[in-house]
Amino acid sequence: LKIPLPFIGAHPINKTNLSCPVSCVKSSLSRDTDKLVTKFTPAQTRSPPYLQKFRGKTIVVKYGGAAMKSQSLQALEINDLALPSCVGIRPVFVHGGGLEINQWLDRIGLKPNFLNGLRVTDASTMEIVPMVLVGKVARMDSTILRSLVANNHIPIIALVAADEKGQSYNINAYMVAGEPAAALGAKKLISLTHVAGILENEDDPGSLVKEIDIAGVKKMVGEGNIAEGMIHKVNCCIRSLAHGVRTTSIIDGRVQHSPLLEILIDEGVGTMITG
Ligand code: ARG
Repeated sequence: LKIPLPFIGAHPINKTNLSCPVSCVKSSLSRDTDKLVTKFTPAQTRSPPYLQKFRGKTIVVKYGGAAMKSQSLQALEINDLALPSCVGIRPVFVHGGGLEINQWLDRIGLKPNFLNGLRVTDASTMEIVPMVLVGKVARMDSTILRSLVANNHIPIIALVAADEKGQSYNINAYMVAGEPAAALGAKKLISLTHVAGILENEDDPGSLVKEIDIAGVKKMVGEGNIAEGMIHKVNCCIRSLAHGVRTTSIIDGRVQHSPLLEILIDEGVGTMITG
């Protein structure tokens, strides 16, 4: 991985400059994020010391979908997510594969089959993907994960699991992401999606809900204001929060550097759900 070291080199990590991450990020990223960065006023980007807050803590990132579409964006996101590990934050990736499965199904003329927004992996699909049903997580053994994280590796979790008989299952990314987050006592769970976040009005991208708590989300679901595809995403957040994850964010994986901005600045870039 190519990590933008000038960023680190220009700002040696010590207690003093850990409290001013935003100016560092702005200067190193401004070349290709001018449009995005100038959206923030200086007051919005004056952030508490988030690097300090997250130092030594795990952040689980559900990655895939729209963020995987373009290879350049994919590389950017990976670099962005590797960067916090250089300053002691511990990222763990949960890698969705939906888009790739669909591409392979398309090649042999099979239609992807979904029920309530979840993939149904039938027997013919099984010939393409070595997975059979859409499984649910019963238990997660986090022993290996813990030692990887403790040794500063960045684990990437693939969404294939097995039952006691060795049968393999394809599991929806949103059903998995909360598990390592809970098992590792993560501070934050970030879902990279192909939408800006939770919108007050589905047709108005400007109606982004910046921050909301579980009660607020449940109210929106109850009133039918959170659409089908978003329900799995928010349920995943709610489950993680119930298991002790402090905050969860649904952000736009199509926006360059969105994970870094969400982590480092006060304003964030998507919807942050709190307990
Ligand atoms: N950077 C802070 C954090 O990760 C705040 C993020 C706020 N995000 C939002 N969408 N309101 O905890």
